[in-house]
Amino acid sequence: MTRYHTVRINHRQEGKEYTLKVPDDHYILHSVEEQGNQLPFLCRNGACTVCAVRILSGEVYQPEAVGLSPELKDKGYALLCVSYARSCLEVETQNEDEVYEIQFGQYFCKGEKKFKIFAYDD
Ligand code: FES
Repeated sequence: MTRYHTVRINHRQEGKEYTLKVPDDHYILHSVEEQGNQLPFLCRNGACTVCAVRILSGEVYQPEAVGLSPELKDKGYALLCVSYARSCLEVETQNEDEVYEIQFGQYFCKGEKKFKIFAYDD
């Protein structure tokens, strides 16, 4: 049987706040959109992290959130495109690319350049 939870979303970049009733068997992002609101998204498959939010209170179920490390899930991040509400929730949108930077930013520009560009005359 479907249960409904109240979800409060602070869309920080837009300066908007949504308070919605969301069914527990429907992705939160889809419910938000079906009720006429917009949030950031890109892949809609739990991979890109554009839809990431910080959970301020409440619980989500997000087994398909492959783009989010277990550590970030433990720190309270969720991907709304593949998250189900498991209680009443209060969340806020991340800073742009916040989750991506936390997960992958440390690896950028760390590798040595081990290539040589050859011209056809070499
Ligand atoms: S839109 Fe890409 S992870 Fe949610």
